[in-house]
Amino acid sequence: MGDKVLVTGSAGFIGSNLAEALCKKDYNVLGIDCFTDYYPRKLKEQNLSNLKSEKNFEFLETNLVDCDISKLLDGVSTIYHEAAQPGVRYSWDHVQVYIDNNIIATQRLLEAARKNKQKIVFASSSSVYGDVKELPVKESTELNPISPYGVTKVTCEDLLKIYNEAHGIPSAILRYFTVYGPRQRPDMAINIFSNKIMNGEAFELYGDGSQSRDFTYVDDIVAGTISAGESSKEFETYNIGGGSTITVKGLIDKIGEIVGKEPNYKCVGEQKGDVKHTHADITKAKNDLGYSPKTKTAEGLQNYINFIKG
Ligand code: UGA
Repeated sequence: MGDKVLVTGSAGFIGSNLAEALCKKDYNVLGIDCFTDYYPRKLKEQNLSNLKSEKNFEFLETNLVDCDISKLLDGVSTIYHEAAQPGVRYSWDHVQVYIDNNIIATQRLLEAARKNKQKIVFASSSSVYGDVKELPVKESTELNPISPYGVTKVTCEDLLKIYNEAHGIPSAILRYFTVYGPRQRPDMAINIFSNKIMNGEAFELYGDGSQSRDFTYVDDIVAGTISAGESSKEFETYNIGGGSTITVKGLIDKIGEIVGKEPNYKCVGEQKGDVKHTHADITKAKNDLGYSPKTKTAEGLQNYINFIKG
């Protein structure tokens, strides 16, 4: 059996996919989750169902905001910190939840890691950049988040930096670009569009659909995340993107084609906090981690539609 690793947020979309891949690689995985009520617990329980049969997976329901984290870190070599309050648009009216579950949780985790200086692989976000002048965006670009969510992710990145400088805790900060694939959260575009189109129901398109995203398939995110955990680099930040971009209107059309139904949507106003375009320069992750996204959008969307069809 390999090293023991901790996956926070292991009942979530990315966390559960990551924990499964780590188990397959023979790591001894401790998964934790506090089942926040952002979306139904039932879905998170389903996310955990494959892991239940893994002999090298152990699960604990606990909350990083108030639990004794040092106990959880006993024997752990690497921490994959996926637990967070996600969602860009929701963050305007729920700032306290983002402060607690993102900033406070990460600071408490760092404080507990001071004893044994475990490496922390942190799930950051493309939203730390805001609306940038030049695309594709490099890691060195100035951070200008335009949502409270993005602000909390920048603060977490700053905390990781000062704990590395002051206390020698190694970290890999991974800026994920809009992740999709099996178990995608129900508040996210691909989940909403796919289900609504399949069921012949109407949905809302924010803005005119000309905004674009560098959508990244979850298997690629997982591969990049594990490579970062296994890297011997002391403190680095990486963009983890999908390698191509598509407009939201183009995305809707593609899902319609795969499903074989005409999408029925109405354009409503642009949402505060949504950036216009995202596009990752992934050269650094390629060079340092051997990161190379494998799943093209058409294939990833087909996989996702197959997943929701069951
Ligand atoms: C996503 C995640 O939700 C964040 O947690 C993550 O940190 C972020 O990606 C990231 O890349 O860092 P977002 O890009 O807003 O945020 O992802 P989606 O919810 O999939 O939205 C994609 C696009 O579809 C946005 O332009 C959004 O305005 C649009 N959209 C979404 C709609 O037009 N209608 C909807 O009902 C939902």
